[in-house]
Amino acid sequence: MHSGTGVRFGKAMLAAGVLLWGAASGGAFADGGAVDASVADSQAFLDENQYTLNGIQRYEYIFGEDFCSIGGLDTTRDLTAQLNLEPGDRVLDVGSGMGGSAFYMAREYGAIVEGVDLSRNMVTSARNKAEQRNLSVSFNILDVTDADFPANSFDVIYSRDVIMHIEDKAALYKKLFKWLKPGGQLLVSDYCTGDGSWTDEFRDYVAARHYHLLTVEDYETMLQNVGFTQVRAENRTDIFEQSLTKELARIQDNKGEFLSLFTSKDYEDLTQGWQIKLERNRNGLQHWGVFHAIKP
Ligand SMILES: C[S@@+](CC[C@H](N)C(=O)[O-])C[C@H]1O[C@@H](n2cnc3c(N)ncnc32)[C@H](O)[C@@H]1O
Repeated sequence: MHSGTGVRFGKAMLAAGVLLWGAASGGAFADGGAVDASVADSQAFLDENQYTLNGIQRYEYIFGEDFCSIGGLDTTRDLTAQLNLEPGDRVLDVGSGMGGSAFYMAREYGAIVEGVDLSRNMVTSARNKAEQRNLSVSFNILDVTDADFPANSFDVIYSRDVIMHIEDKAALYKKLFKWLKPGGQLLVSDYCTGDGSWTDEFRDYVAARHYHLLTVEDYETMLQNVGFTQVRAENRTDIFEQSLTKELARIQDNKGEFLSLFTSKDYEDLTQGWQIKLERNRNGLQHWGVFHAIKP
């Protein structure tokens, strides 16, 4: 038996103007009302900077179809295999982006996946893709920090390379803890940092992106303090590095095709961005953590 989520939406829904519902939600619409300024600002920051339409298309080129996160389909296949998902399991995908993981879990495991993402561009893209696929997925525009769901709603809460955007991680994880069913699983990958001192370049990058990074060890302690048990915190910067290397080769080896779709500035931005990330990996600045935990 899997109970309905009975979702209540936060202020970001209102900032979104019109709520777009996916296949699992039956095509209803809700009109917006008052706009919360801080949510609207965060949404505009994402949609007008890192996740412009062009930005997400070029990310998709480098990460692979439907994805905007380290390793694309490869890491998604490996990480979701840990979950032992069963048909009908309810999954919340926090920061679902273009929907890659949601589509995968619905298609491969028969999970019912609810994706939430603050970026209108991301949700629009995911919804357009969902229209062509007959899967139990829904995508809603929502600031997860402002969201509320009834307690004990989800079998799995899943998030890939999203929570680096969120400053008060402990407050968010307290909510995720509440929304999980007892025995439910948390599976997260996130950008982290090493414990050495930061270079000016890294400080500027983190500030420009509005990222908030913890070490893998501090992340583990935070999850334990929130109340999660069986916390497994893995520093998988090795996978980050392998994926970056593969992704960089993907655009370098297909430069002609890339330039038929994007500008030479896009090419320079991405290749340089990936090379700098590799350098930061090697200098111990930018790490990638994978976290699995249980709500007791
Ligand atoms: C690097 S992308 C990852 C997308 C997706 N998880 C994937 O694996 O392809 C980060 C995503 O986090 C979303 N995001 C950032 N802050 C958010 C917030 N407060 N609430 C919901 N989504 C957020 C962004 O809009 C973006 O889609």
